[in-house]
Amino acid sequence: MGHGIAEVLALSGRSVRIRDVDQRFLDDARRKIEWSVSRLHEKGRLKEDTELVTGRISYHLNLSSAVKDCDMVIEAVPEDLELKKGIFADLSRTTEPSTVLATNTSCLPIGEIASAVREPSRVVGTHFFNPPVIMKLIEVIRGSSTSDETVKRTLALMGALGKTAILVRRDVPGFVVNRVLARMMATARVIVQSGMATITEVDASLKYGANLPMGPFELLDYIGLDTHNFVENALAERGFAMPAGDLISSKVRAGTLGAKTGSGFYVYSKESPKAVIPRELAGRVPASLVLSPSVNEAVWLVSHDVASAGDIDLSTALGLGFPKGILTMADEWGLDVVLENLESLKKSTGEKWLEPEPALRDKVERGEVGAKSGMGFFEHSGG
Ligand code: 3HC
Repeated sequence: MGHGIAEVLALSGRSVRIRDVDQRFLDDARRKIEWSVSRLHEKGRLKEDTELVTGRISYHLNLSSAVKDCDMVIEAVPEDLELKKGIFADLSRTTEPSTVLATNTSCLPIGEIASAVREPSRVVGTHFFNPPVIMKLIEVIRGSSTSDETVKRTLALMGALGKTAILVRRDVPGFVVNRVLARMMATARVIVQSGMATITEVDASLKYGANLPMGPFELLDYIGLDTHNFVENALAERGFAMPAGDLISSKVRAGTLGAKTGSGFYVYSKESPKAVIPRELAGRVPASLVLSPSVNEAVWLVSHDVASAGDIDLSTALGLGFPKGILTMADEWGLDVVLENLESLKKSTGEKWLEPEPALRDKVERGEVGAKSGMGFFEHSGG
């Protein structure tokens, strides 16, 4: 993610220093950035000379010289809390107190990372999505000690990158998008484990039945099963219930981590770099069934004042490339349908985390069931 974030900043005209611990990683980052920038240029999405963009990036092994006089440092190391805390302790010593210290964690609480810094008020979360250069969203996460000034400066910079930055108001594990995503991934898994559909059938249902850019298993392969496993474990350690089962961890143990290793749930090669998901397999499970737990999670986020319904919709559309926000989709299916889906999934799998949120039940009891009633999460004319 680090090289992608650096590229986004350079594309917006900023000068960027990338620091890593080994020259190999820096060389790899340089190669990936050069490939990506020339791809954007070829496609007409970049009008500037590619050298002008790549020339804004310099590569460093030494931390102190890399972070000297920076407005902002964005850390993007693997999701290991102790590793991140060690880096933030170093940054606390090597940067000016006016430098904003951002972490690109996808799930670890900002407050836990900020505890390593003398002035935790300057620590904030900036969560980019893969690939950063294409995905239009950045979650800006306020930790319990983050100052208003830090939030303001971060939102201003992220907004100036040509992306939409949404503010995650509370530092809950997984923030907005990864909580919603984790429910989809978990539901896809329990559906497969209970024999209701195969991996490819679930992917086909979401790809062709709901027009998602990738099915959940295809996306797992794209993100990397090790990365997703980190996220799930971090969420589970902090009380976010996950289904039992070995579908992902067995592959992680075997080293088949998805597209980057050539196989995961699908097989990848130079000749065939994308998962093959036949359209005719769609329809075995309705897309709304697989996505109802994500809607339930979105209801939890609204009820706990983590983000507004509008921001959750924007986040799922821009961070995951959904054709519409998750709550707009729910309004179209009907919230009564979402409630029934949750109840039937809970009954057939026995998974407690599928319990419908009280606020969802209340809406259905009030008759606010979505587009067909004129009111759901949003107001609809002609309902
Ligand atoms: N640099 C430059 N261009 C790139 C690129 C990159 N790194 N990656 C893709 N592209 C371009 C391609 O060149 C192509 O350009 P074109 O349309 O002009 O030909 C365009 O993007 C589309 O790419 P592809 O044709 O290869 O494939 P797709 O149409 O399938 O799009 C995708 C690929 C954008 C990845 C799309 O499948 C998608 O949106 N998938 C969902 C991704 C997603 O959900 N990301 C979030 C994951 S969760 C996360 O990151 C959180 C973390 O905490 C785990």
